[in-house]
Amino acid sequence: MPLHCASFHRPRTRILRIFCLAAVAGLGLIWLSLRSFDQDDQIPNFWADYPSLPFSSPPEQSQVLTPELPSVGENGTLPNNLLKSNPSLHILMPARAKSQDLCRSIASAMLLNYPPPTIIQSGNLSSSYTLHDAVLSQIRGIVSFLEGNKHVNQSDLVLIVDGADAIFQLPPEVLIRRFQRLVWTNNEKLRKKYGIAVTEDQGQEGVQKTVQKYSQRVVFAASKQCLPSSFDDVVCTTVPRSSLPPDIYGPETDIQGDGRRNRPRWLDPGVVMGQAADLKLIYERILEYVTLNQNINAYERAFAQIYGRQEYVRELERRRTTSLWKEWLWNIIGISDASNITNVYLSLQPGKRYEFGIGLDFESQLFFAMNGSESDVEWIKYNDVERVLGVQSEHGVPRERRLTLPVDLEQNTQNPFMQPLWRAGETAKPPYYNRTVDFLPDPKRADWHSLPLMTNVHTASIPAVIHANGYVSFRDSCWWKMWYRPWSRALLRKYMQSPLSGGGILWNMRGGTGGVWTINDQWFKFEEFCGGYETKLFDDRWVSWDEDGKPIYNQWGNLIAGALKSSRNV
Ligand SMILES: *[C@@H]1O[C@H](CO)[C@@H](O)[C@H](O)[C@H]1NC(C)=O
Ligand SMILES: *[C@@H]1O[C@H](CO)[C@@H](O)[C@H](O)[C@H]1NC(C)=O
Ligand SMILES: *[C@@H]1O[C@H](CO)[C@@H](O)[C@H](O)[C@H]1NC(C)=O
Ligand SMILES: *[C@@H]1O[C@H](CO)[C@@H](O)[C@H](O)[C@H]1NC(C)=O
Ligand SMILES: *[C@@H]1O[C@H](CO)[C@@H](O)[C@H](O)[C@H]1NC(C)=O
Ligand SMILES: *[C@@H]1O[C@H](CO)[C@@H](O)[C@H](O)[C@H]1NC(C)=O
Repeated sequence: MPLHCASFHRPRTRILRIFCLAAVAGLGLIWLSLRSFDQDDQIPNFWADYPSLPFSSPPEQSQVLTPELPSVGENGTLPNNLLKSNPSLHILMPARAKSQDLCRSIASAMLLNYPPPTIIQSGNLSSSYTLHDAVLSQIRGIVSFLEGNKHVNQSDLVLIVDGADAIFQLPPEVLIRRFQRLVWTNNEKLRKKYGIAVTEDQGQEGVQKTVQKYSQRVVFAASKQCLPSSFDDVVCTTVPRSSLPPDIYGPETDIQGDGRRNRPRWLDPGVVMGQAADLKLIYERILEYVTLNQNINAYERAFAQIYGRQEYVRELERRRTTSLWKEWLWNIIGISDASNITNVYLSLQPGKRYEFGIGLDFESQLFFAMNGSESDVEWIKYNDVERVLGVQSEHGVPRERRLTLPVDLEQNTQNPFMQPLWRAGETAKPPYYNRTVDFLPDPKRADWHSLPLMTNVHTASIPAVIHANGYVSFRDSCWWKMWYRPWSRALLRKYMQSPLSGGGILWNMRGGTGGVWTINDQWFKFEEFCGGYETKLFDDRWVSWDEDGKPIYNQWGNLIAGALKSSRNV
C-alpha cells in the first residue's frame, strides 16, 4: 500500500498522503504490538518458575448453599449415618482470652444462624510467654485446624475472624453469595488482565489443559492503612489500586495524611474467607515467616509481604507477556492497570510459591475494616426515605445516588424474625416461648427495610461482617447500634431452642447448637463460655442468661444440653 500511495503526485491527494502516513505509522504500531517483552530470552517465565497451581475446586462454584436437607425420622431425630454431601462452612475465631468483645462476636454470629465457631485460644503457653509466643500459638492453631481436622474438607469454606473485634451483621447465606459473586467477578477481570496458559492436566499425564494464569481464591478485608509498614514500603506500593472511583472521598482522596481519605487498598488480616486448602497455604507461609521473625509486628508484616510479593510476581509476568505499544498507549490514556514496581527488587527463590489467590473486598460488600473508616458509616433504615436521599450528600460523596436496600437482602434473605421450622408435632406455639423474654416483632411488619443497617455510605454497601478494629469506644458504640439490639436475647434463645437450626445441620457436621468448639474438640455451652457478660451483650432487664433447662439436640438428634447437664458428648 505505501508504494501505491507514493505514485500519487497531484495536490488533491495531500489528504490521501496524510492518510498513507497514518497507515504506515499504524502498521509500525501493530508490529510493535506483536513484539512483546517475551522475545527477550533473558526474561524468565514467572508463571512457570513459581508454582501457581494446583488449587482445589473453584470457590465460586462451590455448592455450600445448596445442601440437601436430611430427612428427619419419625421421632424427630436424624439418622446416625448422616453424611453431608456438599461442602461445609466453618468459622474460626482466634482470640487471646475470653472477653466481652469475644462474646459479642460469638453472640452476633449465633443469632444470625452461623455455625458454632471454633475458638482458637493461645493455648498451652508457659507463664512467661511473650506476645510473639501467643501469636505463634494462634497461627499454629489455625494451621492445624485447616490441615489436620477430621471435620474439615479441603473444599469447605472457612471464615476466619479476629474474635476480639468482629461483629456480624448479616446472615451466612448473604455472606456466601456475595463471596462467590465477588470471586467470580474478580476472576473475569484477572483473566482479562493476565490471560491464560496451557499446562499439563493434574492426574492425567500428557493431557494438556487451558487454565487461567492467576485467579482469586480468598477474600480479605481491605484496609486504609498498610500496617505495620509505611506507605512507601515496597510491599505497600506493589499491590493493586482500589477499584473504587479515584475521587470517592472528595478531592483529597488518596492524599495520605492520617490515611482516613485513602481508598482501602491494603490487606487487613482480621477477616478472611476462602476454601480450607487455599487458606492452609497462606497460613503455613505466615507461620514460616512469623517463626523466623521475632519482631512485634511480624504477623501483620507477614501478610503485607505475602500479598505484596504475590502482586510483584504477577506484575513481572504481566510485563513479560504484554506489548510495548499497549503499555505505552494505556499509560498515555491513563487506564494502565500496571502495578507500581518502580525501584522494587524483591528477592525471589525459584520453585517457591508466591501465588496465593489473595484478593480484597475493596467495596466492603463482605467485610468492613473500621480503623480509620469510622466516619464513613451510618446506621440506616432503608424505609426512611428522607434519610436515604440525603445521607450521601451529608458525607460529601461525589455523584450521589439514592441508597436502596441491596437486592440480595430485599429478595433472597429470610426475615430475621421468622420462627424456625419446628420438628414434627411442634408446629404450634414453640414450647420454649415466653411472651416477655422471647418477644420478637411480627415478620409481616418488621423486615430488613425497617432495621438500622450499618452502611458504608461511600460505597453504598452493607457489609456482612464488621472488623471493628481501631477505637475501643467506637467498637462499643457499634455494638449498641446494631439492628438486633432490642431483640438479641430473644433471637439468641430462638437460635438455641430450635433443634434443627442452621448451625448444627446446614453448615457443617461438627454439630452442636448454642455453644463454641475449641481446637481440641471441646464443647462449651454459650453460658459456660460467656456467662457473666450478659449485661455487655443484652440491653434488657434480665440479668443472667436463663436457659430454662430446655433440651438442645445436636445434628444426630442426641441431647447435648438441657437442664444444665454435661454437654460434651458429640
Ligand atoms: C428415633 O428413631 C430411630 C429410627 O427411626 C431410632 O433408631 C432411634 O433410636 C430413635 N431415637 C429415639 C430418641 O427414640
Ligand atoms: C501442653 O503442655 C504440656 C506440658 O507442658 C504438654 O505435656 C502437652 O502436650 C501440651 N499440650 C499441647 C496441646 O500442646
Ligand atoms: C469430605 O469429603 C469426602 C468426599 O467428598 C467425604 O467422603 C467425607 O465424608 C467428607 N468429610 C467430612 C468431614 O465432611
Ligand atoms: C511507585 O513506587 C515508588 C516507591 O517504590 C514511589 O516513589 C513512586 O511514587 C510510586 N509511583 C506511583 C505512581 O505511585
Ligand atoms: C418469662 O420469663 C420471665 C423472666 O425469666 C419470668 O419472670 C416469667 O415468669 C416467664 N413467664 C413465663 C410464662 O414463663
Ligand atoms: C489504626 O490505624 C492507625 C494509623 O492510622 C495505626 O497506628 C493503628 O495501629 C491502627 N490500629 C489497629 C488496631 O489496626
